[in-house]
Amino acid sequence: MRKTILTGLRPTGNLHLGHLFGAGQNYVRLQDDYEFYLEIADVQALTDNFDNPEKVRKNVYEITKDLLAIGLDPEKVNFFIQSKIPEIAELTVYYSNLVTVARLQRNPTVKTEISQKKELFGNSGESITYGFLGYPVSQAADITAFDGEVVPVGDDQLPLLEQCREIVRKFNSIYGDTLKEPEAVLSKNTRIKGLDGNEKMGKSLGNAVYLVDDEETIKKKVMGAVTDPEKIKKDDPANPDVCMVYYYHKLVNNEENINTICSECKKGSRGCVQCKKELIEAMKDFLRPIQERRKFYEENPEEVDKILQKGTEAARSKAIEQMAKVRKAMKIDY
Ligand code: TRP
Repeated sequence: MRKTILTGLRPTGNLHLGHLFGAGQNYVRLQDDYEFYLEIADVQALTDNFDNPEKVRKNVYEITKDLLAIGLDPEKVNFFIQSKIPEIAELTVYYSNLVTVARLQRNPTVKTEISQKKELFGNSGESITYGFLGYPVSQAADITAFDGEVVPVGDDQLPLLEQCREIVRKFNSIYGDTLKEPEAVLSKNTRIKGLDGNEKMGKSLGNAVYLVDDEETIKKKVMGAVTDPEKIKKDDPANPDVCMVYYYHKLVNNEENINTICSECKKGSRGCVQCKKELIEAMKDFLRPIQERRKFYEENPEEVDKILQKGTEAARSKAIEQMAKVRKAMKIDY
């Protein structure tokens, strides 16, 4: 029997290269070998965007198109919308008895997010909502409602996985062996750097290259990239290992070009402007097949609806089955 994957994404913005090289490639690699449920986590997105429902709704479709564009096959992956599965909400309520408020407040992912969202949650988290504090409980329900065994995520999500495993153990110890403890599968590149040299690419950092970026946007971003600060003149030898342009050539260019770029840069026979122009071309070539696939779904939005509907139906029947087991174990199967 194939194992079950459950993973999710908050629909709050388009996917960027950081997502692609992290979670995205991980999903594509795993899609052949698992029963795969991919949740568009609109309920979770609302926990810190409750005042902006249009943004969440729009991004449900944006992110689904992005995921299809990177090569996820809707025949293999069940794309579903979290809010369409009421069993998740029900399970969240039962799990909320199995976790303390103090434990949620200590969750490192939650703590980091609270400190990043001061305008919403206050300077020291004094305005934190019940819903946001509880989203790890809801995420545990996301995973276990589908009997999820394998959860491909970035390392920022590990505290949420640990919290889920604790809830599972607690549930099983009280109500009898019912749920499986899920395991995380980390992406190979957990994190890629920004063109600005920041350790991380992110929307909030303002350094993201999006899968939907057009030529003009790519040009502007690449031309502003950080290069070796020691290199002053065009023919100074430089160190490619501290250059973000070289770093991105390594991500999107082919091996032969990468080797040439590296040795020319070290010798001083390559100017940064030329190197950036070549990166723009390589980035465009790299994004072209992704953008072409995306274009099909942009022109045929009814296909996206169909995919979400079909995936949501499959997810719903799985969750209904699982909830029957949960209710029986909890003696609420009236
Ligand atoms: N917390 C994840 C994020 O912020 C999204 C998510 C929701 C998720 N439900 C999940 C991830 C279940 C893994 C498993 O991107």
